[in-house]
Amino acid sequence: MPYAIKVNGTVRTVEAPADMPLLWVLRDLLDLPGTKYGCGIGQCGACTVHLKGTPIRSCSLPISEVSGEVTTIEGLSAAANHPVQQAWQAVDVPQCGYCQAGQIMTAAALLTKTPKPTDAQIDAAMSGNLCRCATYLRIREAIHRASAIATGAASAAPGGRSRGEE
Ligand code: FES
Ligand code: FES
Repeated sequence: MPYAIKVNGTVRTVEAPADMPLLWVLRDLLDLPGTKYGCGIGQCGACTVHLKGTPIRSCSLPISEVSGEVTTIEGLSAAANHPVQQAWQAVDVPQCGYCQAGQIMTAAALLTKTPKPTDAQIDAAMSGNLCRCATYLRIREAIHRASAIATGAASAAPGGRSRGEE
């Protein structure tokens, strides 16, 4: 049946079975392949998108239960310049890259709620996003950098350190 959902600021109508996970609606019906399939059972975080600003597992949410605006990695910023995206580049976080869209979406939601998170808050927020390449330390550094970029305390230039780290 048809479903109308708002994705990245635009209302889109899709024809899908009620139990089709949002992940496949995004990837296969709306041509938004930035959101990745990892485990399919809500355990890895690769498929993380925002629903009304809250990070959710799109592999585990049927289209019939989507209520509110969805934001994917493609819609996080106008020019891939969200502070988290700038920080990810500055710190050179990704290795294979597969998990990184999910990591970035979770990190962005964390900083909206907690603009200056501690290591413990970062670890708690990010604990559901797995990375087989073990980029966890760079992720933590990049979240601190993104927090500093957002407040003007650090530049987005590669390398270097934020003023708070000097
Ligand atoms: S693919 Fe959704 S949590 Fe792993
Ligand atoms: S960068 Fe390879 S799985 Fe995270």
